Amino acid sequence: MKTSNTIYHMATVTRERRNQLNGHKSVVIWFTGLSGSGKSTLAHSVEEELYNLDCTAFVLDGENIRHGLSSNLSFRDDDRKENIRRIGEVAKLMMESGVIAMIAFISPFKKDRNLVRQLLPQGDFIEIYCNASLETCESRDVKGLYKRARAGEIKSYTGIDSPYEAPDNSELVIDTENESLEESVIKVINLLKSKGVIN
Ligand code: ADX
Repeated sequence: MKTSNTIYHMATVTRERRNQLNGHKSVVIWFTGLSGSGKSTLAHSVEEELYNLDCTAFVLDGENIRHGLSSNLSFRDDDRKENIRRIGEVAKLMMESGVIAMIAFISPFKKDRNLVRQLLPQGDFIEIYCNASLETCESRDVKGLYKRARAGEIKSYTGIDSPYEAPDNSELVIDTENESLEESVIKVINLLKSKGVIN
């Protein structure tokens, strides 16, 4: 612990009050899956839908965060761990501020995802597994990175020479290989309704 002489300041405008004002609950929705499995696409489509429903939501995307907040991190296991720890803390702050935080990161390690789950009150971490086979993600290869990883130009690429650990009991599994985007969005929205996050 490097910061021992700090005192946490308690706000009077609480998460509960913000949630009341916004007319919906704030939670963390965590999208995990291989690169190219459709995490960001799904998260942004859900964000669009939530916006149309007058809900305050915001997507944090692995790709973007690695240009800024996590620009000093590599794809080594320990740096991925730090990446997820940071984002977990940011997600928690967003949730405290009343926002539905949608986090789209590969987050390949179960342990790191579970640390974020434990950081939050029970029920506030909603894990969504975007399930698509490596073959499918590789054939999509939207950014051409799988090809470069196969050629050995990129090291420690998830699914190629770095592992991906699928969740055992995520709140929702989306078959992004076979389902349409519209179907997937409806499933997420219905889940949020069933959990009382939105009306
Ligand atoms: S995570 O493992 O730390 O959660 P994150 O979601 O931030 O990863 O970043 C993944 C994105 O970075 C991928 O979609 C891909 O475009 C890019 N990337 C670059 N190098 C790698 C790599 N070695 N492994 C995985 N993704 C990589």
